[in-house]
Amino acid sequence: MQSAGTAVSDRFELIEVPHASGAASFAEDVAAGLNASPKRLSSKYLYDRIGSALFDAITHLPEYYLSNAETEILRESGWEIVRVLDEPIDFLELGSGSAVKTRLLIADALRVQGSLRYSPIDISTDALRTSSLALVEAYPGLSIRAYAGDYFDVLASKTLQFERRKLAMFMGSNIGNYEPGEAARLLRLLSAALSPGDGLLLGTDLKKDRATLEAAYDDPLGVTAAFNKNILERINQQLGGNFDLRNFAHVVHYDEERGSVDSFLEARRAADVFVESIGARVAFSEGERIHTESSYKFSDRDVARLGAIAGFRLSSTWHDRAQRFSVHLLVRT
Ligand code: AVI
Repeated sequence: MQSAGTAVSDRFELIEVPHASGAASFAEDVAAGLNASPKRLSSKYLYDRIGSALFDAITHLPEYYLSNAETEILRESGWEIVRVLDEPIDFLELGSGSAVKTRLLIADALRVQGSLRYSPIDISTDALRTSSLALVEAYPGLSIRAYAGDYFDVLASKTLQFERRKLAMFMGSNIGNYEPGEAARLLRLLSAALSPGDGLLLGTDLKKDRATLEAAYDDPLGVTAAFNKNILERINQQLGGNFDLRNFAHVVHYDEERGSVDSFLEARRAADVFVESIGARVAFSEGERIHTESSYKFSDRDVARLGAIAGFRLSSTWHDRAQRFSVHLLVRT
């Protein structure tokens, strides 16, 4: 373990994990999704530079209560969370951790144990480098070993190394963007990278009334609509598409049975769209939708069930005061 006062560059290491061979490219996924029925595009493609900036703006919208609710929980209970495993810990985070929320937990852990190794995993090497350097600069007791790659690839690569008990973190309701089978697969891979007694801190949005949920994903300023439509702009820019963005409306619907807020782009009028680099002409009828994102909501029992499938026992749950969001500590069995 590095000691406090070590140069910033000595406390930061970046490991790049290559994409699994045979993984589909953006072009291949777009071709498959636009030819499918119903049409779909993976929400992972919402996050280019503009998409990430728009998502950041979403987290400041009054209707999108998720970020503030989670921050409130960490602000009030972070000290309790980092102590609950009852011994010095290392952090592993799915996500690059530039957010104020990770800082709260890092500061709490350093107050308790003096030094900390933090290992973020993120697809964007640039985001990892920028956020990691800012963190080591801000916290002299912190050392970072960052992993650049897809979560599934990094967890399966067996390159993760730790010296202490681990607290893995998957915050911000990010688990909600995976279909249930994929969420279970990701948590099983994470469970395999942990040891019995290690923790997983999971932030999930609570099931609630339709009006609140649909407003969170369809704000009156139109920021979420722009975030969603940007996926078509990305296809236009990167794959030579000719989507007319004005012909597509952002539509959201809470499917209560599945517990998911689903986002779509809906063609206002019939249109033929051409995407040059995949050589595809795609016909849209009036009102036809492309599914772009699922945002699953969880009761605390849903989380216990999902955890159990992946080898975790639900140990503690914290809610914000308005009972909108939960943070759970699951322990690897
Ligand atoms: C990143 N993720 C958890 C957000 C969510 O709530 O599903 C993405 C988002 N989509 C629209 N608004 C926010």
